Amino acid sequence: MAQLKIEPEKIDAIISKWNSDAEFTIEMMQDVQDLYRHLPRQALMRISKATKTDLGRLYHIATFYKAFSLEPRGEHSIQVCMGTACHVKGATRVMDALARTLDVEPGKTTPDLKYTLEGVRCLGCCSLAPVVAMDDEIFSHVDSSMVTRVMRRHERTMRERGEEGDA
Ligand code: FES
Repeated sequence: MAQLKIEPEKIDAIISKWNSDAEFTIEMMQDVQDLYRHLPRQALMRISKATKTDLGRLYHIATFYKAFSLEPRGEHSIQVCMGTACHVKGATRVMDALARTLDVEPGKTTPDLKYTLEGVRCLGCCSLAPVVAMDDEIFSHVDSSMVTRVMRRHERTMRERGEEGDA
């Protein structure tokens, strides 16, 4: 499994940005989540110490909100809608095909930390079922035979956005 390097000074900078104020522990955790795509134990311990907030409370928050993850998440998120409309139209087969292609179980992240694959509830666009969201890009009427093509298209979109961002 690839390792993300945790830099204590970056965590401390986040804590300072919020004046080490216990009122803003969630905001600090959000910043850490954005930076590392998860909440490393080291970060929670530093926030706990700096804000004098019980570490158990921070873990409670971390597990309560879906936006937080205690496990490193992939650079890209792949969400397969498992809501009723998508399920009826073959979402399970799509999920299986993605899991095979990425060689990762649903709910897990690839060892290179590139992708996190997960099943989610209705994404709110049932007429497009089955639906897969790759980062903020929605793919409609996906069937299991399209998985590789959809992934390539998403990679192209990401590359193009990166190039635009570099311009
Ligand atoms: S059930 Fe999949 S978008 Fe609604």
